[in-house]
Amino acid sequence: MKAYSTEMVSISSGGHMEARMDVWVLMAAMLLLLATGAAGQLQQEEVVVMEELTAPHPARAGDDVQLTCRWSISGRLHGGGPSHGRDQGFTQVKWWKDGHQLFKIDHKGEKIDYRHPGVDIITKDSDSRVVTLRAVSRLSEGQYICEVMGAGPTFRSTNATVNLTVAEVPDAVLMTGAQRVYRTGQ
Ligand SMILES: *[C@@H]1O[C@H](CO)[C@@H](O)[C@H](O)[C@H]1NC(C)=O
Ligand SMILES: *[C@@H]1O[C@H](CO)[C@@H](O)[C@H](O)[C@H]1NC(C)=O
Repeated sequence: MKAYSTEMVSISSGGHMEARMDVWVLMAAMLLLLATGAAGQLQQEEVVVMEELTAPHPARAGDDVQLTCRWSISGRLHGGGPSHGRDQGFTQVKWWKDGHQLFKIDHKGEKIDYRHPGVDIITKDSDSRVVTLRAVSRLSEGQYICEVMGAGPTFRSTNATVNLTVAEVPDAVLMTGAQRVYRTGQ
């Protein structure tokens, strides 16, 4: 009984020490949580969600043509939700035609325009969402790909494809076509 009470005393004094240590451990754990939490938020995986790549169908010879790549970024952090229109979350967007790289833009907005027969890119009207081709011809026809590379840690990439066809049509038919498009749009 006496031994027991002595032990109780020693436990209680040790317990006091442990309680103080627990505070430090708790504080350290909280700091660690804060640090990893903040890092986790910066490094959270933001997934590129590809929607579609569209082109006029068919494009008309001589027209400037826009290829539009619709994609978004969605984070996976709880409560984070989608963060559309953010420029973080992707590293670069590459545009291809029939396996040849045409155009590249990185998340800082730096653009590289590669020369390719039948493709004249209007650089100022091209970015991570749209590529504008000047005065298309039959040579511009082909399979176009918009490839979006995500941010770290995985740098996963996703892409969409569209086939561009160019119609060389006589003026009379062109007028009718234009009128039809106008009416459909109303
Ligand atoms: C497009 O995606 C497919 C399927 O993930 C992949 O096999 C192909 O290499 C990608 N192409 C480009 C140009 O990124
Ligand atoms: C697009 O073009 C490629 C290559 O010419 C062809 O294999 C593919 O079937 C075409 N896709 C569509 C939807 O027309």
